[in-house]
Amino acid sequence: ADLGTPTVAPPAWFYRAHPDALPVSREGVRYAFGSRGAICHSNPAYREAATRITTELARRYAAHPALALWHVHNEYGSPVGACYCDGCAAHFRRWLAGRHGSVEAVNDAWGTAFWGQRYTDFEQIDPPRLTPGACNPAQQLDYRRFADATMRENFRAERDILHRLSPGIPVTTNFMTALSQCDSVDYWAWGREVDLVTNDHYLITDGRRTHVNLAMTADLTRSVAGGAPWLLLEHSTSAVNWQSRNPAKRPGEMARNSLAHVARGSEGVMFFQWRQSRRGSEKFHSAMLPHAGVDSRVWREVVALGADIRALAPLRGTRTVADVAMVWDWQSWWAQGLEGRPSVDLDPRERADSFYEALYDRHLTVDFAHPEADLSPWPLVVVPALYLASEKTGDNFRRYVEQGGTLVVSCFSGVVDEHDAVPDGAPPGLLRDVLGLSVEEWAPLMPSESVELTGPTGDRLRADVWSEFVVPRGADTVWSYVDGPAAGGPAVTRHRLGSGTAWYVSTRLAAGALDTVLRAACEHAGLCSRDELPRDVEVVKRSGDSGTYLFVLNHTDGQARVLVPGTATDLFSGEHVSGHLTVPAGGVRVVRQHDGR
Ligand code: GLA
Repeated sequence: ADLGTPTVAPPAWFYRAHPDALPVSREGVRYAFGSRGAICHSNPAYREAATRITTELARRYAAHPALALWHVHNEYGSPVGACYCDGCAAHFRRWLAGRHGSVEAVNDAWGTAFWGQRYTDFEQIDPPRLTPGACNPAQQLDYRRFADATMRENFRAERDILHRLSPGIPVTTNFMTALSQCDSVDYWAWGREVDLVTNDHYLITDGRRTHVNLAMTADLTRSVAGGAPWLLLEHSTSAVNWQSRNPAKRPGEMARNSLAHVARGSEGVMFFQWRQSRRGSEKFHSAMLPHAGVDSRVWREVVALGADIRALAPLRGTRTVADVAMVWDWQSWWAQGLEGRPSVDLDPRERADSFYEALYDRHLTVDFAHPEADLSPWPLVVVPALYLASEKTGDNFRRYVEQGGTLVVSCFSGVVDEHDAVPDGAPPGLLRDVLGLSVEEWAPLMPSESVELTGPTGDRLRADVWSEFVVPRGADTVWSYVDGPAAGGPAVTRHRLGSGTAWYVSTRLAAGALDTVLRAACEHAGLCSRDELPRDVEVVKRSGDSGTYLFVLNHTDGQARVLVPGTATDLFSGEHVSGHLTVPAGGVRVVRQHDGR
């Protein structure tokens, strides 16, 4: 049993006794009881009650033979990412004193000389509540950091009690790394706090290919776990009930989703919910045991998956093998999303999704990396959106390229430092050297506009939303703008530095165009192409002491044939495989390779 602490859902009597534990919105509205997750994480009564019930639970169940894992709280950061009450204001002031040291340092970091916002005492500083015009961006950014850190304080308090009273039992809390599902938590920081990274993933029906988002989320989760095995703590057997329209999964889709998570590093597959509820808010959410009972497709597919997954036991402890890395930073995302940017249409999440999708379609497995992480393990590193970059990041990128790496940086990156301040000199301040260029001016496009680029062979690429006046300072122009505000100027550049290369893409390339540029960068990085694999047939490798395993997931409606080097054994059927593998429409095969390649 993975035993949960109930601290995301305090009871009514608790709130009657401590009404201040209900959080307050940025507009000053106090949330009411009647749902769950209504928590002010700074509230002393809440904190005291959370540690008290965790202590009692640990005392009662620590020695229980069924206890395998502790599960603290639920999905920190959702549904309330930050509370703006007076208690949080006081806590924020203490946090600011710890981060900046003095009120002068806060003034400096936040640029409060602008619009007369100077503080002379910490007491004058409030959360970034509703203001008549744009609220100080650095204040807002620090508040997001504070809210995230405050939730982590509460996680640590529960975790430490469990470690003390229940030694040897790992402690987790379920993440929601899908970028569309939670934007208030910096999972790089959280990944370091848990004994086992666990994640919840639900398919989002927004017209895009759901299996691509699933793969991206699983890759991000594995990366937050530092590449170590992780666990899918929740997904759904079929429909969810929190979108406007909630499609049922098609036959075989649940198993394919499940095994896609396992391919990308999960050590198992768990579901919300066991028995479909008949009351409350989630009665139309699918379950392992649906309202229809055991004579149902969902039940049969769940049972079949349970039987199949036993065959994957040898994979335990093996790791997913990735080809390339993508740099992602939650704090940069937070910063770029604030008001007063050159264009609301340039969306970091959209860029991350699109770069991921282009790499997925090239059949490359992606690791994610923090901007300051050691990038040397990957021959190619892409940076789809990094508006905010520290000095360390600039140095890190430069070192990576100098030592032979291929880096692809997308537009409007390296623009501000960690205080949302523009560094001295022309943009992109901290990435100028590595990219070998400067940007004279941003030139966003209107929704009806697009631009054309021309490249080395006279080929034409399309882009929209964004362009820049790029001035090469060492970089070569590979594609230039044919039209638009920067017509005739560089659009995509390549800078040779040390023994590596840094590419810069100064516009928002459409899908096909992005593929063209990434293909060129991949060739440059010596990454072998997997063009022979059909679209939407996913091949992922896990490798470790017990061997090398290939997952082949066929997301198409037709049978797929995939070449397999050497010979292999199918883990589900025991069948001997030689030369190629046939995967039925919508099916999955997992094979153990004999020559370990
Ligand atoms: C989240 C929660 C679950 C349930 C599901 C529904 O992941 O953790 O309790 O509400 O969503 O999809």
